[in-house]
Amino acid sequence: MTDCLCYGATEARADLTPLRIARRALRDDDVAITIAYCGVCHTDMHFAHNDWGSTVFPCVPGHEIVGHVSAVGSAVSRYKVGDRVAVGCLVDSCQHCAACEDGQEPHCQHGTTPTYNGRDRVTGDITHGGYAQHIVVREQFVLRVPEALDMRYAGPLLCAGITVWSPLRQYQVGQGSRVAVVGLGGLGHMAVKLAVALGAQVTVITTSPGKADDARALGAHQVLLSNDAQAMAAAANGFDLILDTIPRTHNVNPYLMLLGRNGTLVLVGALEPLEPIHGALLARNNRSIAGSLIGGLEQTQALLAFCAEHGVLPDCEMIRIQDINQAFERMTRNDVKYRFVIDMASLG
Ligand SMILES: NC(=O)c1ccc[n+]([C@@H]2O[C@H](COP(=O)([O-])OP(=O)(O)OC[C@H]3O[C@@H](n4cnc5c(N)ncnc54)[C@H](OP(=O)(O)O)[C@@H]3O)[C@@H](O)[C@H]2O)c1
Ligand SMILES: [Zn+2]
Ligand SMILES: [Zn+2]
Repeated sequence: MTDCLCYGATEARADLTPLRIARRALRDDDVAITIAYCGVCHTDMHFAHNDWGSTVFPCVPGHEIVGHVSAVGSAVSRYKVGDRVAVGCLVDSCQHCAACEDGQEPHCQHGTTPTYNGRDRVTGDITHGGYAQHIVVREQFVLRVPEALDMRYAGPLLCAGITVWSPLRQYQVGQGSRVAVVGLGGLGHMAVKLAVALGAQVTVITTSPGKADDARALGAHQVLLSNDAQAMAAAANGFDLILDTIPRTHNVNPYLMLLGRNGTLVLVGALEPLEPIHGALLARNNRSIAGSLIGGLEQTQALLAFCAEHGVLPDCEMIRIQDINQAFERMTRNDVKYRFVIDMASLG
């Protein structure tokens, strides 16, 4: 066991404070990683606040982890000390069910082991995330950061990036696809950049008039204010795919109306009950409503390669770990431009 300094929550709605946890001794197939940067996902705040009622305290969030390999177990073949690596939302799955064999580890039929607030498959201990000096992860769940990708910007690709990339690929977004992104935060801004890079016509639907210029600078072709009833009505039936990143329960009907024939609204934000959906809105235009959960390891590695090749990087605001509570507070006010990334050197 190795002592590890980190930041975590000891109870719901309390500020995150410095904590000490123990990282396990290396198993044969483990990689130890010194963490350089960790992105701040809205999910981190949901868990720290126990929004979903499932948090085990103390909770050390963080699943957009980037760093260097500091040690490897005896059976590790893919990584060596010094390699630039990354870890996303999962640190283990069964590796042999149909989902795992299809590269869809988030849907492992035997349950996944999330990077934090999960249960280690061997010991049953609670997992702790990346707001920390270092982490120990099974080799299969460690990704490689391409040389062409700046380490400071790689973190947000591990959750925000893959969560929107996966449905963009699944629904075959390409040249001329009409895509709307609801909510311009961490996930939303990556969705804009990636959909634009794939050749789509992209519209941002926002509650924040002040983000319109940013949306265009990120590559969006059009911006809609969700409370502008006239503009929303004029946009009816106009989209093939809508990525809805709103982080809490809401009324999806005004967005469903925007889907054209055979269009799909993919929910990636609100992982909780929604306000009732109007069946007639779904029936018209053969609309669908779907969900999506992060993405598999192979697809995440492919996203890192795509971003390195096309120069698609998140807009990051670098913070010190000591500023994490202020960052959470800004996130509750939709004031994220567009992903906080913790420089872990600040942890000391
Ligand atoms: N499915 C998955 O696998 C997965 C993975 C990662 C995260 N998530 C979830 O995705 C959600 C978004 O995460 P994030 O990190 O992108 O959050 P974020 O950076 O806080 O962005 C969310 C954006 O949604 C908009 N918004 C917030 N509250 C709203 C409301 N009440 N009504 C309408 N719009 C609202 C705001 O954009 P505007 O100012 O533009 O309106 C806000 O910036 C979280 O709930 C997170 O837990 C899911
Ligand atoms: Zn996340
Ligand atoms: Zn499995």
